[in-house]
Amino acid sequence: MKYSRITGTGSYLPEKILTNAELERMVETSDDWIVSRTGVRERRIAAEGENTVDLAERAARPAIEAAGIDTQDIDLIVLATTTPDQVFPATACLLQKRLELHGCPAFDIQAVCTGFVYALDVADKFIRTESAKCALVVGAETFSRIIDWTDRATCVLFGDGAGAVIIQAQDAPGIISSHLHADGQYTSLLEVPAGVSQSYDKVRNGQAYVRMGGSEVFKVAVNTLGQIVDETLAANNMQKSDVTWLVPHQANIRIIAATARKLGISMDHVVVTVDRHGNTSAASIPLAFDEAVRDGRIKRDDTVLMEAFGGGFTWGSVLLKY
Ligand code: COA
Repeated sequence: MKYSRITGTGSYLPEKILTNAELERMVETSDDWIVSRTGVRERRIAAEGENTVDLAERAARPAIEAAGIDTQDIDLIVLATTTPDQVFPATACLLQKRLELHGCPAFDIQAVCTGFVYALDVADKFIRTESAKCALVVGAETFSRIIDWTDRATCVLFGDGAGAVIIQAQDAPGIISSHLHADGQYTSLLEVPAGVSQSYDKVRNGQAYVRMGGSEVFKVAVNTLGQIVDETLAANNMQKSDVTWLVPHQANIRIIAATARKLGISMDHVVVTVDRHGNTSAASIPLAFDEAVRDGRIKRDDTVLMEAFGGGFTWGSVLLKY
């Protein structure tokens, strides 16, 4: 059986920084409130005309370069996003065109903030079953486009960005195990209540916005992420101390700290970007992973636990040897 291993990483953040001080001028909030409740100090916002595929391409190219492959070696593209450029084609196909690839499967995954974990698991399964040898897996979002900038409960939380990895077939792991879950009973706690088939007028009028029951989401997220840590370790007969790095979804520093406590891992071994990126949904894990690989914190053969929670609800984890 083949395994997949991450051989290259890349990421991209739009240039424009939106600080808490600027948000104080837009809604009734304060830097103090935002930092103490969420850990976010600033986030990036895509420029007008800069779309999800643009961010995805700028994350994918350095990942391809870092892997030392030829772009033409890629035989699968899986792209996680909640903010696709178009209803169709999939943003993965738009990216495929940019990369001048022809013929390999390319599709989007929609699992909101858990999107990258879902995408990585799907791509890993293509490689394990020898349906692909070299996959480009991307998380890319222009979440700012679905934010109501007058709603202080949500607008302080999110940002835009993209991250990417190349995974390739190898004889040893690599990705050790993945654990995906969803429970549709909570759809109304975190949603954009409009789309193509329902309330399309809101999409047309630019009023399709994120709605969230923040404190309810918080409680379920903390409990669920604690459980996914246990599930992942138990499935592999591993101890908490076997994990070198936690790369969590970056929604809220308090949720991240609670998961780190559960794992008994010091915050020095947790990759945190939420202060500078906010919650970039499907992009947050590959952005954080790329940062820690490039600055030398995450090293070859380190054991890394990625975990995420998001709308749906969806949640999941990937345990891997880098
Ligand atoms: N600035 C100032 N006050 C704010 C505010 C803001 N930006 N947003 C909300 N408030 C107010 C609320 O109106 C409320 O006021 P009230 O007590 O007078 O009604 C008060 O702050 C507390 O609100 P609450 O929602 O209970 O705060 P909280 O401690 O739960 O923190 C979140 C709010 C959103 C930061 C937190 O619930 C959270 O992070 N939830 C999970 C979000 C998440 O992870 N979503 C994505 C999942 S992938």
